[in-house]
Amino acid sequence: MKTYTTDGAFPDNYKFLIGSIVPRPIAVISTRNIDGTNNLAPFSFFTAVSASPMILAFCPMIRSSDGEFKDTVKNILREKEFVVNFCTEDNYSKINLASTELPYGEDEFKFAELTPMNSSIVKAMRLKESPIHFECVFRDMLCYGKEPGSGSLITGEVKLVHIDEQVLKEGKISTELVKFVGRGAGNDWFKTDKPFQLERLTKMQIQN
Ligand SMILES: Cc1cc2nc3c(=O)[nH]c(=O)nc-3n(C[C@H](O)[C@H](O)[C@H](O)COP(=O)(O)O)c2cc1C
Repeated sequence: MKTYTTDGAFPDNYKFLIGSIVPRPIAVISTRNIDGTNNLAPFSFFTAVSASPMILAFCPMIRSSDGEFKDTVKNILREKEFVVNFCTEDNYSKINLASTELPYGEDEFKFAELTPMNSSIVKAMRLKESPIHFECVFRDMLCYGKEPGSGSLITGEVKLVHIDEQVLKEGKISTELVKFVGRGAGNDWFKTDKPFQLERLTKMQIQN
């Protein structure tokens, strides 16, 4: 086995993370720019945190090109709200385009030919091409540095969940119907078209 220290350059640590924490779900986060235009960007450092209250987290890093917060972060800190949309087989190539670093204020919905739709309680738009939308209110931010590659953890409380009926099976979200797409190492992406079922042992079964 090879052993590495983590005090080296950011790109090495980044490769350890994206090569090991796989597959990663992708949050496609929409926010509102200061002039009222839209911003959209994918983030695969993304997870659920709490079911009650319903809280999720994602982790934007300091932008390598200019050492600043990404536009998503600037918008969330000002507007205190955002929408989490999801990456699927039907939208992933446009979502990849939406990750392009455009000048602040340029709309990634337009750039990637994606469709914004109004939210119910937040001003940030929902992504029409996503079958699930979470309208979120900003909760906390933890920052781990100011250098390019330094991450921060942003949490949001999900206030409203919208689900396209077409991805529901017996009232529950179906992995197969949504066709989620995730991220791996390098330029690897994942389809989730081969889920398998495994039941957890109940306490009763363990005791028997
Ligand atoms: C699938 C995918 C996942 C990404 N995940 C992250 C992430 O977790 N953290 C991050 O800082 N950047 C991530 N990026 C890069 C951002 O999307 C990119 O920097 C984007 O330009 C940020 O946009 P913004 O400045 O409008 O916020 C990811 C890109 C792609 C294509």
